[in-house]
Amino acid sequence: MAKEDLTIRIGGEGGEGIISTGDFIAAIAAKAGNNILTFKTFPAEIKGGYAMYQVRISDEKVMCEGDGFNIIVAFNGDAYEANKKFLKEGDVFVYDGPGGNFEPEEHPGVTMYGVPMSKIAKQDLGVYRSKNMVCLGALSGLFDLDFDLLKQFIQDKFGKKGQEIVDINIKALEAGRDHCKNNLTKTDNYRIPKSEKKDMIIISGNDAAGLGGIAAGVEFFSCYPITPATEVAYFTADHIYKTGGTFVQAEDEIACLANVLGASFAGKRAMTSTSGPGISLMSEMIGMSSMSETPLVIVGVQRGGPATGLPTKHEQSDLFICAHGGHGDAPRIILSAEDVQECYELTIEAFELAEKYQVPVFMLSDGSMGFRTESIPRPDMKAAKRARRKHFGSVKEGEKFKRYAITDDNISPVAYPGDKGGRHIAPGLEHNESGAPNFDPVNRKKMMDKRMDKVANIENEYKKAEFEGDDQNDIGLIAWGSTQGCVREAVKRLRAKGKKVAALYPKMIWPLPVNQINEFASKCKKVMVPEVNYQGQFAEIISSKTDINPIKYNIYAGMPFTPDEMCQKVEEVIA
Ligand code: COA
Repeated sequence: MAKEDLTIRIGGEGGEGIISTGDFIAAIAAKAGNNILTFKTFPAEIKGGYAMYQVRISDEKVMCEGDGFNIIVAFNGDAYEANKKFLKEGDVFVYDGPGGNFEPEEHPGVTMYGVPMSKIAKQDLGVYRSKNMVCLGALSGLFDLDFDLLKQFIQDKFGKKGQEIVDINIKALEAGRDHCKNNLTKTDNYRIPKSEKKDMIIISGNDAAGLGGIAAGVEFFSCYPITPATEVAYFTADHIYKTGGTFVQAEDEIACLANVLGASFAGKRAMTSTSGPGISLMSEMIGMSSMSETPLVIVGVQRGGPATGLPTKHEQSDLFICAHGGHGDAPRIILSAEDVQECYELTIEAFELAEKYQVPVFMLSDGSMGFRTESIPRPDMKAAKRARRKHFGSVKEGEKFKRYAITDDNISPVAYPGDKGGRHIAPGLEHNESGAPNFDPVNRKKMMDKRMDKVANIENEYKKAEFEGDDQNDIGLIAWGSTQGCVREAVKRLRAKGKKVAALYPKMIWPLPVNQINEFASKCKKVMVPEVNYQGQFAEIISSKTDINPIKYNIYAGMPFTPDEMCQKVEEVIA
């Protein structure tokens, strides 16, 4: 178990600078050599409502958000009300007071520090906006946050807003630190730990997916902005010039995927990012990609649905639409990332698979992972493969290029517009080997089989799902997406207690790795699939493709699982 495991949570009103405050703490902790994982949740409004930011700090890799907090900072009464039930003996509670908008109750065993953040910011400094920096100043004194680094962060973050904004925020930082020095006596033992420095970067899941695209050599990116996926596009827009690529913001998601398809037809590595409502709109073009065998990569950052649903909240409920969305039988591949590092790695793999199999490939992430930051080893971008589809080369004199030629592996070599002898159409209509529309029953069957068979055995060609456990287990958990991190932590805890628990972590979830799941199930008395959606979408897919009928464990309240609740459920099921 980790020597250090500290979680700091900050709660307040959206627009009060909670996110900036948390980002600064996370950056300080990471610079001190720690591993970090952050978690943010906020309402869909730009201002108002309860916003929360949490950073978990450890000397080991942090696998998930964890079970709660050790230190909570409440900027207002709403944050206090939302969190007071979780306060436990040994915790530290820092709050806006006296003079804030609430008076906390007594909490036996909890160390309480009042910092009049609002009062200092409003009355002493005359800038209420700087309240968060007053708070940070106080926290720097209480928990040993590097003060000089904080000043540097203020300069870096607010410099573009003007030097007077920087100066007032540094004043606020100093005022908070001085208040702490002159008025508070530290009685708890928490501090930001210091670990051995490693070559790590701090990056969000969305930025990591964007970075993966750049590493894979994305040459064309089109998007329509949507929470919680927009940052993938922001990141790409900032960096795509490095691949000589083009970025286009479209008028909607239908046009966006049409742009991506057109660029891919022209031979460019092409990609988009979106979330559930965007995937709904893209369904027609996804089918076009499958039918015309034009590769594309879609980073899908899931949020709560249906309709506009929960734009800023976490859910894993787009699996069905990614696997089945659209009309007809259309092959596609779905990868699902476990953590921020995999948002990077699987985006690169998504390109490899798309280019190799000439199909649409989803790299599924989710709201909590897209927004969260983690410290990850600095990626070696030069080592990333820059995949290219199989090219036809040339045709002999008098021969005609067959874009959809039947081959041994069902993958037909491509030609790009302008290639000598490679003229063809990439139709949405059923077609013959040359690409000409053709509705003959024999041809139809042949072409449908070819498209579907390309990926039918992909399980044997892609890396194996990770397994942890013994030859015989009382229960096996199959997890996908960011739920894998929580399952890993729960399995570690349960196995440390001697429980016979196993887990399978598939990264390619569609086509389903049927053989690996069957083999896993044969080692487990019971199989359970925890996922953050109502229907148990992955469990349903497993039931439909295997003889296994997994126990469904579903939550759908806009939050990820916690390891504690996962352990409790497992113990209940095997009792
Ligand atoms: N001095 C000056 N500026 C400050 C500051 C300070 N002390 N502290 C924060 N700020 C600025 C930040 O730089 C940021 O400005 P920017 O947008 O120009 O970068 C802004 O104030 C907000 O602060 P931040 O810390 O980033 O966020 P927050 O904790 O106040 O929360 C959100 C705001 C994130 C909840 C909210 O703005 C938001 O984005 N909500 C979601 C909207 C959405 O996606 N809806 C869905 C639509 S379908």
